[in-house]
Amino acid sequence: MSARSLLFVPGDSDRKLAKCLSAGADLVILDLEDSVVPAQKAAARGRVREFLGAQRERSATQLWVRINAFDSAAAREDLAALVGSRPDGIVQPKVRGPEDVLALASRLEALERKSGLGVGVVRILPVATETPAAVFSLGGYARCAPRLFGLTWGAEDLSSAIGATANKDAAGEWTAPYQVVRALCLFGAHAAGVAAIDTLYADFRDPAGLRAACAQARRDGFGGKLAIHPDQVPIINEGFTPSAAEIAAAREVVALFAANPGVAALQLGGQMLDLPHLRQAERTLARAGLGAPR
Ligand code: COA
Ligand code: MG
Repeated sequence: MSARSLLFVPGDSDRKLAKCLSAGADLVILDLEDSVVPAQKAAARGRVREFLGAQRERSATQLWVRINAFDSAAAREDLAALVGSRPDGIVQPKVRGPEDVLALASRLEALERKSGLGVGVVRILPVATETPAAVFSLGGYARCAPRLFGLTWGAEDLSSAIGATANKDAAGEWTAPYQVVRALCLFGAHAAGVAAIDTLYADFRDPAGLRAACAQARRDGFGGKLAIHPDQVPIINEGFTPSAAEIAAAREVVALFAANPGVAALQLGGQMLDLPHLRQAERTLARAGLGAPR
């Protein structure tokens, strides 16, 4: 299940709901949390429920819902109203750690049984860095498998929670605290064996900046990125799909090892290659849909 682009859509906007499926996103996140004011929560919940109901025959796009903060009454209402419409997953904001994900999982299990759905069909993607406490438990998500889909991170709620005046420097790069958090999310996701999803790029009128951010994220080991505007989706999809040159290079590495059975260290153009390089090449091909990684 590939998730390169994950497009947020405010759940109270008919115009945006009408547009979201044609954006080409791998995954759409119908938002009930921070993009919806309290007075609109109930209306948004109704719209999202209707929207999910109308999409019983799912296209290639997965339909997820971001619920309100898990310990709120609003979140309980979100889940009660929507799980029966079988969203593909729940984005869980403001988690404090894996315990919150396990608590959501058990609530989902009860609602799945009640709605006659298979247990475990609704996956969970926590935004795993929105509270200061959560930062210290990023290595503990393996126990949330198999319901856990991935980990993603956000800087806005965290910087506001600690009273930081900014989270980016003058050049637009993450300041040191947020680079730490980004790296912990990345390794935490891989330690749990789930997708690592990079945070959003807020300047939706800066395609070059987004392209660079995607390249950086993929270089570092993220498999996808949050989006907030349809224009960002094709850039993100391209950024997380191996290029023809990358595929050709990966094929060359795989072919070289295949031609030298029983040898683990080889050279190609004066560069040493050993088994991690082979695994990396196989991963690139798998990501391009050209065979599974070993
Ligand atoms: N999903 C679907 N459609 C969207 C969209 C989105 N996330 N963002 C914009 N659109 C639509 C707009 O409605 C508009 O179509 P319309 O003319 O038929 O109404 C078209 O795309 C172009 O939009 P544009 O005028 O460039 O932007 P905007 O001013 O309407 O919206 C934002 C800008 C940032 C408010 C909007 O992109 C948005 O709401 N993003 C998601 C916010 C969110 O969910 N945040 C929570 C996660 S952090
Ligand atoms: Mg938020």
